[in-house]
Amino acid sequence: MKNALILYNSKTGTTKNYAEEIGRFFKIRDIAVNVVPIEDYDEKMLENVDYLLLGCWTSGLMLFFQQPEKNWTNFASRLPSLHGIKVGFFTTYSFLPGSMFRNMAKQLKGKIEKHSVELKSKDGHFSWDNSVALAQFIS
Ligand SMILES: Cc1cc2nc3c(=O)[nH]c(=O)nc-3n(C[C@H](O)[C@H](O)[C@H](O)COP(=O)(O)O)c2cc1C
Repeated sequence: MKNALILYNSKTGTTKNYAEEIGRFFKIRDIAVNVVPIEDYDEKMLENVDYLLLGCWTSGLMLFFQQPEKNWTNFASRLPSLHGIKVGFFTTYSFLPGSMFRNMAKQLKGKIEKHSVELKSKDGHFSWDNSVALAQFIS
């Protein structure tokens, strides 16, 4: 059985909800999944993980300079090398995720070769497009 780990940073609950919906996608495909807030992250959780989804709410000046906020960048700096794990990003936002994914990738430079999926949602709900993208991610 494959294993997925979903680590999210949420301030007001939208990204938490999104993380849980992403988790349901894995569950119904018989992939074991652990959905965890970054505050509870422990390196041991990465053992035997095949798929890692890293999520953070979009922080910026609404139309410009979107980036993960400090709690997430601190968390990212604590992550070990993730080589061998398939990694994807997700975010929730109000207007525009803009440079969010690019800046998340920047924080993980050297720890991942690339990220293989980007999922975004305005309201924390998992869309049909998200489902198609994630199906490709796990194939
Ligand atoms: C300080 C602050 C900055 C934000 N900046 C942006 C932004 O630049 N672009 C955007 O689309 N949404 C922005 N938002 C909206 C949040 O990304 C959005 O409400 C998100 O879903 C909150 O997630 P959460 O409920 O998991 O905390 C911002 C919100 C806050 C509080």
